[in-house]
Amino acid sequence: MMKKLIIGNWKMNPTTLKEAVKLAKASDKNGTVIAPPFVFIEEVAKVLKKATLGAQDLKISPEESKRLGVKYVIIGHSDRRALGETDAMIAKKLKIAVAQGLKAILCIGEPKRESGIKNNELREAKRYIKNQLKKDLVGIHNSKFIIQNSLIIAYEPIWAIGTGQNDAPADVSEIARFIKQSIFKSHKLKARVLYGGSVNAKDAKLFLETRNINGLLIGGASLKPKEFNKIIKNA
Ligand code: PGA
Repeated sequence: MMKKLIIGNWKMNPTTLKEAVKLAKASDKNGTVIAPPFVFIEEVAKVLKKATLGAQDLKISPEESKRLGVKYVIIGHSDRRALGETDAMIAKKLKIAVAQGLKAILCIGEPKRESGIKNNELREAKRYIKNQLKKDLVGIHNSKFIIQNSLIIAYEPIWAIGTGQNDAPADVSEIARFIKQSIFKSHKLKARVLYGGSVNAKDAKLFLETRNINGLLIGGASLKPKEFNKIIKNA
């Protein structure tokens, strides 16, 4: 079985380079990916010995990203979608990233859970996700395009990001199963599925022990080394 993947998505934090270097040193653990803001990436790369470097977007060319030591790239985060990034742009970035040998973490997730559906049916959410996958994976036609293990899907229900209100592990498990099945059916690809949205040290274990969840994408808690290290221990 593959080890669970823990990714720290620092977003626009911390404020200074000094803090970024300190945070990177404190979070430098095996099996972890650290995605600092682009402005700190070069200096963070210098201090990471065990963790792997990730980028928060394909802001610069994949060749340049790789030269800086970047191995993973987050694509289609809801913050970027909110700023106007379209599915077509996301599909393009995804295709370029994997073709260049970067591991791509495609973020998807519904804006809210429709009320009125039975909790464990998740029908509306699945419809939304299926549509997102269809648009975002345009151009990823066959397995030749994808080097093994290079497609990772982060299921991040938007209502759970940064809100302190995370999803129920059972529901995430069902959605993750659905994502894997959909991608296998449409693209004959095996994708790993991570969960993201208000995960903290207390509930990380629960998610990591849940079927179909291959790891976590952590925002807020990745800025607190003590908390982040507790999460890593569970993986
Ligand atoms: P959060 O962020 O853990 O702070 O909810 C997750 C993300 O946006 O990737």
